[in-house]
Amino acid sequence: MGCIRKKEIQKSENWKRRATMSSPPAIVNLRMLFVCCILIAVKGGWDEEVGLLRRGGEQREFDYFKLALQWPGTYCRKTRHCCSSNACCTRSNSPSVFTIHGLWTEYNDGTWPSCCSGRPFDEKEISTLLEPMRKYWPSLSCGSPRSCHHKKGPFWGHEWEKHGTCAYPVVHDEYEFFLTTLNVYFKYNITEVLFDAGYVPSNSEKYPLGGIISAIQNAFHTIPELVCSGDALEELRICFYKNFEPRDCAHDTSLRRSCPRYVSLPAHGSWGFRSNTTAAS
Ligand SMILES: *[C@@H]1O[C@H](CO)[C@@H](O)[C@H](O)[C@H]1NC(C)=O
Ligand SMILES: *[C@@H]1O[C@H](CO)[C@@H](O)[C@H](O)[C@H]1NC(C)=O
Repeated sequence: MGCIRKKEIQKSENWKRRATMSSPPAIVNLRMLFVCCILIAVKGGWDEEVGLLRRGGEQREFDYFKLALQWPGTYCRKTRHCCSSNACCTRSNSPSVFTIHGLWTEYNDGTWPSCCSGRPFDEKEISTLLEPMRKYWPSLSCGSPRSCHHKKGPFWGHEWEKHGTCAYPVVHDEYEFFLTTLNVYFKYNITEVLFDAGYVPSNSEKYPLGGIISAIQNAFHTIPELVCSGDALEELRICFYKNFEPRDCAHDTSLRRSCPRYVSLPAHGSWGFRSNTTAAS
């Protein structure tokens, strides 16, 4: 299966995904996801000069996977209005575990393919996965992310069309993409590793960043990428070979070593627009 040549779209998508700290007005939901994100590249010595944008040509097969997880306690502090699709708004059963953002395909040079060829997202394809999907892969925003080809759609559709379609030949279709991602997420339980190491949700504690990184390194032998919003941990990403053995991620040039040395894992109670217990940082 070849990937479609969509140079311009790909460029803007790529730019949006990692380089943009202030997104174009149209992609409100992506602002939700990426604004204020500050990432640390934890491993020194990576090539700083890798271009942000892939230049031209067919998209070749990807090199490795990156599993991106989000910490709802941090994301949900940004919630300004509510809707049924936003898990931040259902506080009674809102998760206090890392939830899935996506399983992304990456190149070793720090770039990535996106919007490859594949069928458009169809929720019916994953009807048997909806229960775990809603629990572990919830949308934490009300917006409709832009999928490929400038359409707006559901969060899952965005993840499948932009990233999942590029996971061929490891992953062949939409169902396999979501099932595979859930399985990897279940197998490498980041929440458990952090909780076992004493890094539990709290609105008062701050944890040493190095300790969080070490806990994951000890458990899975890979160095995670961390994204913060202020001093709150917002995303945690770990990388895998195509056989889903952990490996280190390639250096992401648009992201800086800028989580503070002590970070927080905001708790459930600080969630959502109704909560006034914790001011957004
Ligand atoms: C991961 O570990 C946490 C904490 O022990 C637990 O609550 C959660 O259910 C686990 N997640 C999965 C997907 O097994
Ligand atoms: C904040 O929450 C407390 C308790 O939930 C409530 O009594 C108080 O009125 C709230 N304050 C504002 C400004 O909403």
